[in-house]
Amino acid sequence: MTGSRIKIAPSILSADFSNLRTALKDCDRAPADFIHLDVMDGHFVPNLTIGPAVVKSLRSHTKTFFDVHIMVSDPIFWIEPFVSAGADGITFHVEAAGRPGEVIDYIRSFGKKVGITLKPSTNIELVEPFLEWVDMILIMSVAPGFGGQTFIPESLDRIKEIRRFLDRQNLSERVSIQVDGGVDLNNAAEIAAAGADILVAGYAIFGTTNPADTIRSFRNIFDK
Ligand code: DX5
Ligand code: ZN
Repeated sequence: MTGSRIKIAPSILSADFSNLRTALKDCDRAPADFIHLDVMDGHFVPNLTIGPAVVKSLRSHTKTFFDVHIMVSDPIFWIEPFVSAGADGITFHVEAAGRPGEVIDYIRSFGKKVGITLKPSTNIELVEPFLEWVDMILIMSVAPGFGGQTFIPESLDRIKEIRRFLDRQNLSERVSIQVDGGVDLNNAAEIAAAGADILVAGYAIFGTTNPADTIRSFRNIFDK
């Protein structure tokens, strides 16, 4: 951890997949607070990305927290393989979980951090009963499936609503709000002001010629 209140989690989805080791090095040089790994199963979302074997290969090249976002139809099936591969935290979709409480307990049983998330079109009330049991709520600010999309402005109200809910329940110290999708250097301050603690950014970092510098530019917005 680097001490600032707002944490940066680069998503390697937009990195050069033939050179992921370099992407990890860029994150560590900056440094980044987390490395965000997007897992897609071609069923819950219309794309296929990385599996446990890739996570395992990457694990030996960095000690930074692996924040694994599983966009899969069967979260229970995939949790153990990603934990064994080196995930430090797993974030699952409420839409894919028949019983979200069981998924939370199962991730916890491995001693890992737990995140819950929902698509931009999903009613936010669906996650509220579970917030006291998780470490993080991820507000998706694009439809999951692809990097490089545009931030959905209505997400700001969803962040504010979750922040109000956490404040009311005295959970703000314990539960982080992460925002994922279309985050860039221009909208980062506004997203943080709405109540976010952790910003995920993929294209805005790995679409630039110097990703480590760009991560530092994100940090500089907040480290004043
Ligand atoms: C989208 C993923 C995101 C994505 C963010 O389904 O969950 O993590 O990589 O990428 P950008 O920052 O490019 O929108
Ligand atoms: Zn993600």
